[in-house]
Amino acid sequence: MRTPLIAGNWKMNGSAALVEEFGRVFTDARLPASLDVVILPPFPYLDAARHAFADTVLRLGAQTLNPLHSGARTGEVSGNMLKEFGVAYALVGHSERRQLYREDDEAVHDRLLAALSADITPILCVGETLEERDAGKTMEVVLRQVGYVMARLEPDQRARVIIAYEPVWAIGTGRTATPRQAQEVMAGIREYQAGFDRELAAGLRLLYGGSMNAGNAAELLAQPDIDGGLVGGASLKVDDFLAICQSAG
Ligand code: 13P
Repeated sequence: MRTPLIAGNWKMNGSAALVEEFGRVFTDARLPASLDVVILPPFPYLDAARHAFADTVLRLGAQTLNPLHSGARTGEVSGNMLKEFGVAYALVGHSERRQLYREDDEAVHDRLLAALSADITPILCVGETLEERDAGKTMEVVLRQVGYVMARLEPDQRARVIIAYEPVWAIGTGRTATPRQAQEVMAGIREYQAGFDRELAAGLRLLYGGSMNAGNAAELLAQPDIDGGLVGGASLKVDDFLAICQSAG
């Protein structure tokens, strides 16, 4: 019912050569029939990726976007610009943006609206820090992050959002959440959504992110409320990323 989605967030990594390699490998790759695959390269590679991925299943995503359509915002990129380059998905609220660039819930909400208005599917990232988990505040934090944004959307907008649960302590650390830990939080997110609309909650796509790799993906993706993965480090190695995609069948 929910199509699985595997997204590779390259963060500030990659190269023109890596774009070409992904294009080559995925042209002949055997993949599950029902699977969406997205690569989110740094902005300068989007145009090359659009061409290199043209004959593959790979779709393009952006790692962030500015809330405005245009204007005096030096260094920023808008949703309509991304759309011109074939971008179909955009991350909003990645923990690195929340922590390093001080994006708060309101800023995340504004970016998510900008994605929707450019007809780009937003992937809303949420997750608790280790201190918050140790203090027993995981659900409180995650549902605050989800709720701030979702409660301000119209029902038809809510139906277009994908949510990625990425515990901050699992990102880039090699310390993956156990399938049980991830499932528990993600079931809680779906249940929260069901408070708005049961049908919408049943169709909501939830991704897990945080040290997902070729070795642990299958077990995570087998959980009932995990519909895909948001992959960082392992998305920079084409064989590993392909193996993760293949385990999503
Ligand atoms: P890692 O897979 O490197 O832990 O990164 C996860 C992530 O932040 C994806 O957005």
